[in-house]
Amino acid sequence: MDITNSAAAQAAAPLTLALVVASDRAGRFAPVIADWFRTRVAERPDFELTVLDLAETTLPTSLSYDPDPGVRAELARVTPVLEAADAYVVLTPEYNHSFPASLKNLIDRHYTEWRAKPVGFVSYGGISGGIRAVEQLRQVYAEMHAVTVRDGVVLPNAHGQFDEDGLLKDPTGPEAGAKLMLDQLAWWGHALKDAKAVRPYAA
Ligand SMILES: Cc1cc2nc3c(=O)[nH]c(=O)nc-3n(C[C@H](O)[C@H](O)[C@H](O)COP(=O)(O)O)c2cc1C
Repeated sequence: MDITNSAAAQAAAPLTLALVVASDRAGRFAPVIADWFRTRVAERPDFELTVLDLAETTLPTSLSYDPDPGVRAELARVTPVLEAADAYVVLTPEYNHSFPASLKNLIDRHYTEWRAKPVGFVSYGGISGGIRAVEQLRQVYAEMHAVTVRDGVVLPNAHGQFDEDGLLKDPTGPEAGAKLMLDQLAWWGHALKDAKAVRPYAA
């Protein structure tokens, strides 16, 4: 049986999917991949996409249990995007065999928002395609009580995979990975949303 395409999941209201764009560096490549991925999600009636681009946030890396008013104001803008999501896709590059500090900062500043929700990954970088960053993120998201899905999009040598119009030269593998990941996010997203409606997550 194909668990990812059940009639119930198809008939349900669309899930809110938050795309977190992790790279916040000047001159970053992230927007090219984000644009490609947004087009993939737009083809799916089972998701409504919101985007949280960390280059457009101003959260200092110094954490405080008593944030100053500026940080509170920024969190008041950022946190509701995470809170409203039923599922997440994290678009992350690999920096020195890990993921960017901007992303760790976002994760560390939240907790309940991530809980009992599925997370998928679109990763990119040099030869590894960001998979070392993703494997580390699976450990971090376990601490958040989030569920990371098995499949995702991996883009080794990402710059060379896109043409000057931002289109993938060979979309076969990435499109297949995106479909698998989105199907798994849909299944987990609906399953967890339905379960939480009956029994709030309290573990
Ligand atoms: C500080 C730094 C460290 C990097 N380390 C790695 C690495 O360990 N593995 C890898 O595959 N690519 C590495 N790269 C290459 C980046 O993944 C690649 O440049 C990617 O485009 C960065 O994403 P961005 O341009 O959206 O920030 C590194 C890049 C930077 C800036």
